[in-house]
Amino acid sequence: MIVLGIETSCDETAAAIVTLDKRILANVIHTQVDDHQPYGGVVPEIAARNHLAYLDRVIQKALMEAAIHIDQIDAIAVTAGPGLIGGVMVGVMAAKVIAASLAKPFVAVNHLEGHALTARLSNNVEFPFLLMLMSGGHCQILMVSGVGHYEVLGQTIDDAAGEAFDKVAKSLDLDYPGGPQVEKLALQGDPKRFVLPRPLKGRGGCDFSFAGLKTAARNIIMAGEVQTDQDKADLCAGFQEAVKDCLVDRLKNALAMISIEFSTVVLAGGVAANQYLRSALTEVCQSAHKEFVAPPLKLCTDNAVMIAWAGIEQLRLGKSSPLDFQPRPRWPLSELKGN
Ligand code: KG4
Ligand code: ZN
Repeated sequence: MIVLGIETSCDETAAAIVTLDKRILANVIHTQVDDHQPYGGVVPEIAARNHLAYLDRVIQKALMEAAIHIDQIDAIAVTAGPGLIGGVMVGVMAAKVIAASLAKPFVAVNHLEGHALTARLSNNVEFPFLLMLMSGGHCQILMVSGVGHYEVLGQTIDDAAGEAFDKVAKSLDLDYPGGPQVEKLALQGDPKRFVLPRPLKGRGGCDFSFAGLKTAARNIIMAGEVQTDQDKADLCAGFQEAVKDCLVDRLKNALAMISIEFSTVVLAGGVAANQYLRSALTEVCQSAHKEFVAPPLKLCTDNAVMIAWAGIEQLRLGKSSPLDFQPRPRWPLSELKGN
């Protein structure tokens, strides 16, 4: 089985071709970062127009990379939500047209399920597993017990972790997306110089909160305490350290809360690209005798490989979607129907 995956829910226009036996034949990503950088965040209207302009070329490039003809595609999987709806509609319409013209199955994929199932493609992770989903728009801890089976143990009550990285970076006049910039500067910084809060740390449950931490970092900047490159590095290090402490605390709580048997903790979403956070979470898992898995960096940030793979996971359970499936701007994992 060869599946074409399409991803257009944020600022990456992506197409990928993946096989049932886990071969990635193509992984093409056209990033729009430069178009959104002047605004310090993704502008939905610009994103949607760019997806329209680039998607057909991105799909053609994927077919060329895989060295296959479009007739050899067995099914089309596309992000149908959650995300910026203009962009999602562009991808969904393209996928529906290709599926209809080839008379092949169409699979509407939840973007978060794409992130969630990536580790099964990259690391052969078995169900059930604990998932920390940390991206620009989402921040959740979930128990994943099967395709479509997600139990949310906790989530952010305000900003997502990636969003907090991006907003602090913006306050420091760093380029968008902020996560990688903050991580890089933090390497030269003193994490103890600025005193920052650890929201919800020490409390029960697995919810997250990053708004207070972000505001505290901003207040330090507004007070004029961050002038030199070293000041910036120190603030980045302090902020990253605080995020790390929150994630570690929440993961420990989640591990203590779960009663079912499982062996693996997966970190997914764009924030999983952060090596400092990865190593801290790895340590927690080692002490709890759990395996820690984070997919390769290029599969952690938004891509279409994960969408093609989530499509394959559904198809091999005999599932696909009707061509009148409506794109969903909001689509919590807890609303997916399992088997
Ligand atoms: O999963 P993703 O590519 O897109 C969403 O679905 O949101 O995640 C993007 C987010 C951005 O907020 C970005 O700043 C963050 O992931 N990110 C990072 C790092 N690389 C990307 N955050 C912290 N450290 C990083 N190295
Ligand atoms: Zn994402």
